[in-house]
Amino acid sequence: MARRKIACVVGTRPDAIKTAPVVLELRRHPDVETLLLATGQHREMLAQALGAFGLTPDRDLDIMQHGQSLAQVTERSLSGLDELFAEIQPDLVLAQGDTTTTFVAGLAAFYRKVPFGHIEAGLRTDTIWNPFPEEFNRRAVGLFAALHFAPTPWAAENLRREGVADETLFVTGNTGIDAVLDVARRGTEVWFPDESRRILLLTTHRRENWGEPQKAIAEAARDVLETVPDTILVVPMHRNPQVREVLEQVLGDHPRVSLIEPPDYPSFATLLARSDLILTDSGGIQEEAPAFGKPVLVLRTTTERPEGIETGNARLVGTDRDVIRNQAVWLLTDPKAYAAMAQARNPYGDGRAAPRIRYEALRLLGVASPEEVAWA
Ligand code: UD1
Repeated sequence: MARRKIACVVGTRPDAIKTAPVVLELRRHPDVETLLLATGQHREMLAQALGAFGLTPDRDLDIMQHGQSLAQVTERSLSGLDELFAEIQPDLVLAQGDTTTTFVAGLAAFYRKVPFGHIEAGLRTDTIWNPFPEEFNRRAVGLFAALHFAPTPWAAENLRREGVADETLFVTGNTGIDAVLDVARRGTEVWFPDESRRILLLTTHRRENWGEPQKAIAEAARDVLETVPDTILVVPMHRNPQVREVLEQVLGDHPRVSLIEPPDYPSFATLLARSDLILTDSGGIQEEAPAFGKPVLVLRTTTERPEGIETGNARLVGTDRDVIRNQAVWLLTDPKAYAAMAQARNPYGDGRAAPRIRYEALRLLGVASPEEVAWA
């Protein structure tokens, strides 16, 4: 039998982080050729994230342009991937999550009738508009995926309710937990702030938060610094110019604020572990923080990750300046409230999602041997 081909498609930083463990697992199989294809939706942030796992794309469409619209990202990735799929003839396409790259990878596979495996399937909010456009992206690929890899039982239940057949649905854990544990285990020499004060870590980049909500978030963070003097604020800034402008305006001149370039992934994991309180609108950080026992205030009005809220590690606080400030100040000044949120738990996975995904992918291709069994 000819070597089977799996194309793993990535475009953004989270795609890279959450797909890398799967690529590394698949590449251990001699009868399967695993290709890593990049749309290049992100440039520096993608290369940096893949680099942490020693990966470089086999092919890169390099579509990133500053200020491009969602339609432009979609259009250029779609025609590029279609050509690549025609040339490579993959037997299976894999992509993770809810980015435009993921949606397009699925659509290109659908048009060519190549089976598509969706990593991190089944996350849902109750409105298609939030997160925008991610809720649409993940629902859309769920319509035709041949394999749905749900990170949690809750995500699997969402898919079941939508009529996804049990034999195509697998609860694997989130590959992001594989990634963060892997990086933490390797204990790479990394940067972290030389600091004895408490560290507040802020990240914000979501489209729904652009403009006024993001300004309110930044102002709230500044208020917290003013109210709780033994704190500093570290803000890794997304490369999106829209996001940076607001952060620089509101926080740029404060002596206890470090606005930093996006750290590489191992450094970010260390920073997370070293922080005392996380304020974020990122999905991946909501998943990673409980693994380090770090309280998270989620700067959004909805979340598709209710598990961390149920375990008590996260709170959904929205984007109102006063609410964010009050919640953060309360946690930083009430040790009991803080301790209740700071328990290390792992509702999102056990670090073995990638071997489970590998097993099901190989089974679909008819090359899984009994020794492949990964469902430990
Ligand atoms: C994208 C994803 C979002 C994910 C986020 C993680 C979509 C629609 N959005 O949002 O789901 O949470 O990535 O980061 O798929 N830029 C650079 N260099 C980079 C990356 C970005 O300069 O390495 C700048 C460019 O000007 C680019 C802009 O940031 O146009 C925005 O990037 P884009 O991919 O459109 O959206 P994100 O906000 O990053």
